[in-house]
Amino acid sequence: PLELPIVKAELTDAPLVPAPITRKHAAKVVVQLEVTEVVKKMADGVDYTFWTFGGSVPGKFIRIRQHDEVEFHLMNHPDSKNPHNIDLHAVTGPGGGAASTFTAPGHETVFNFKALNPGLYVYHCATAPVGMHIANGMYGLIMVEPEEGLPAVDKEYYVMQGDFYTKGAFGAPGLQPFDMEKALDENPSYVVFNGSVGSLTGDNALTAKVGETVRLFVGNGGPNLISSFHVIGEIFDNVYAEGGSTANKNIQTTLVPAGGAAITEFKADVPGNYVLVDHSIFRAFNKGALGMLKVEGAEDKKLYSGQIVQKIYQPEGSTVQEMPMSKTPLAAVASSKDMRLELGKTLYAQNCQACHQAEGQGIKGAFPPLAKSDYLNADVNRAIGVVAHGLEGQIKVNGELYNSTMPKLKLSDEEIANVMTYVLNNWGNKGGEVTPAQVRSAQA
Ligand code: HEM
Ligand code: CU
Repeated sequence: PLELPIVKAELTDAPLVPAPITRKHAAKVVVQLEVTEVVKKMADGVDYTFWTFGGSVPGKFIRIRQHDEVEFHLMNHPDSKNPHNIDLHAVTGPGGGAASTFTAPGHETVFNFKALNPGLYVYHCATAPVGMHIANGMYGLIMVEPEEGLPAVDKEYYVMQGDFYTKGAFGAPGLQPFDMEKALDENPSYVVFNGSVGSLTGDNALTAKVGETVRLFVGNGGPNLISSFHVIGEIFDNVYAEGGSTANKNIQTTLVPAGGAAITEFKADVPGNYVLVDHSIFRAFNKGALGMLKVEGAEDKKLYSGQIVQKIYQPEGSTVQEMPMSKTPLAAVASSKDMRLELGKTLYAQNCQACHQAEGQGIKGAFPPLAKSDYLNADVNRAIGVVAHGLEGQIKVNGELYNSTMPKLKLSDEEIANVMTYVLNNWGNKGGEVTPAQVRSAQA
């Protein structure tokens, strides 16, 4: 069989995309993508610990051709606290590659795939808890060009939406931790393009000249929201809906699903500022999902006569109202140890199983076991503290070192008592009953 030529993939950070593929034949494309966990700006005065494919959110743009054979390398930087993997929607195979790329900090994994279908595809991390990894920014786009390539345009850009869940409200300053409860409620503090408020405004605005054709590769990492993608003042001449092969003509707003994409194309006919939004419009003006395209060139008064006032398009700033927090429903109160075990079982499935696994066996190198855990059984009050406050730093469980992070879980004393009683009475642990009073005194 013929050997394919070997090509190293060009990878770019948003809003840039790699050059169109001019090859008329398949190649073996080597992709090297490095995962890092980095503190970066979410908004002015607000930082966040993003988990990234390549150092930024969204992850590096990957561009290949249909029938290419890809040799995919996933490296996880030694400074990472968590294992990661990758599910590329362009891959046909188990987990889209996730099953082959579970990568501990300081490790590298490799797998091969053949790009069978053309289209614009999302990739994302699929390590438990999956929602948390995606919510921290672990997504990007891979374009598989059809054999004949995409029609030539003058400008191409990469725009990807994501929703973020911070402990503080929109604009609350400082390094903001992830908020699991807001994520479960699908109630983001931020909805942004390209990883931060202002990533596509002011000096960062996209640009084009009058008469140029513009293509936007639009993705949505979610994890929760569907985007109603719209450019104020433009009509998309073509939309390859959901990133597929058929163009819809003359579209105002296109839905981009969580974990989906769209290619939009238009000609810049009239100079001025065009605002990219999620047309679920509070997200745009109050949560950050707003970008800008500056079109420069000669006016044609026949096409558009008026003057565009930039002021009215600016975000409303810090005058966001804080909505009252929704009350969590009254949790069931256990009146016996049996009832505690019953309630604890459900709590375990909902809050712990994603990491510590169904039989408490954990995942070696990533999540310590709770089954026959010497760490747990030696000091139950210490374990209660772990559940109540989370845990960071190195610990040794059954002879294995773990140096990772367990998030603080929003559980009541009653719930912690129930889940700990369940854990203590299963998988070879030492038994007993934990009461809410013990949970309170363990933390006193
Ligand atoms: C550590 C319990 C949820 C990740 C621990 C430990 C306990 C524990 C007792 C101490 C080590 C051991 O005995 O094995 C629980 C319970 C949970 C829960 C009862 C649910 C209520 C989670 C979740 C995650 C997680 C959702 C993943 C996001 C970890 C990690 C450590 C740990 C990474 C080690 C931390 C370090 O290296 O410092 N957990 N856990 N746990 N847990 Fe959890
Ligand atoms: Cu991850």
